[in-house]
Amino acid sequence: MMKKIDISILGLGNLGTAFFEGLRKNNNVNLHLYEENEGTRKSLLKLYDTKILPNIEFIDSGILILCIKPQNIRDFFESSSNKIGENVLICSPVAGLEIETINQYVENKIIRIMPNLLIRENNGLIPFVKNYDGDYLNFINVALSFLGNTEEFDEELFALITAISGSGPAWFYELSNQLVNSATKLGMNENDATNLIKGLIKALPNLINEDDTFDELVNKVKSPKGTTEAGLNSLIVDNFDNIIFNAIHQATNRSIEISTELKNE
Ligand SMILES: NC(=O)c1ccc[n+]([C@@H]2O[C@H](COP(=O)([O-])OP(=O)(O)OC[C@H]3O[C@@H](n4cnc5c(N)ncnc54)[C@H](OP(=O)(O)O)[C@@H]3O)[C@@H](O)[C@H]2O)c1
Repeated sequence: MMKKIDISILGLGNLGTAFFEGLRKNNNVNLHLYEENEGTRKSLLKLYDTKILPNIEFIDSGILILCIKPQNIRDFFESSSNKIGENVLICSPVAGLEIETINQYVENKIIRIMPNLLIRENNGLIPFVKNYDGDYLNFINVALSFLGNTEEFDEELFALITAISGSGPAWFYELSNQLVNSATKLGMNENDATNLIKGLIKALPNLINEDDTFDELVNKVKSPKGTTEAGLNSLIVDNFDNIIFNAIHQATNRSIEISTELKNE
């Protein structure tokens, strides 16, 4: 039988909880949970029969996943880097945090990833980059691949990946928000509109074939002089392409800015 791998999750906010939910179904993994915030600990303990410590004690093996915000990174390493054994693999999903910056604090092996919340459903997309050869501790094979599709990218692309994929769910949620708002303004009650849009989002994956481009998918919905075409033409007039480009550009720039802030601190 395979030896279980020890995974410590530091910070049980949105992403840490998603890791916990996704990984707790994995029999090859032992989870160790850490969350500083007492309120968060209490609400999680109402939901799960598990153990959560406020801070890490010495970790001498396995993987440590950093699920804390960029602004907490410096404090964490300054107070706790001596609690991370040299054989521990550090996994960082922290936006903007470069491998080189982590290496200023510790010399461990590091894997930088940029997942999104779909890892909760084991349906995530997990771009990664690492500073070591092979699959140390089988982390990619046993744990990351269990949470979704993994793919290696150059670290230079991480700011853009963070914008389109890490923040990705938010773009679709905000579009949905605006669809609901429009329907409400045009006379539908908010509940009905929300339910219709949620139903639509849930059904969408069934309509997407691997080979289709998004242009082709749009074309399948649109017919000449029809309702969809009327709406799409309005999007063109209102420069929808620019609106989206600017949002992704801003998000990418913010990620680059965070990298610089973390380096300079
Ligand atoms: N959310 C996403 O979809 C997503 C996607 C990709 C990457 N990320 C990255 O994942 C990281 C976490 O994001 P999040 O949205 O999960 O943030 P979050 O909801 O704020 O969760 C962070 C949690 O960690 C706790 N914490 C902070 N310092 C700690 C420490 N030293 N020890 C133990 N617990 C500590 C925080 O407590 P307090 O509230 O008391 O500070 C908070 O409960 C960020 O760096 C982000 O860039 C997030």
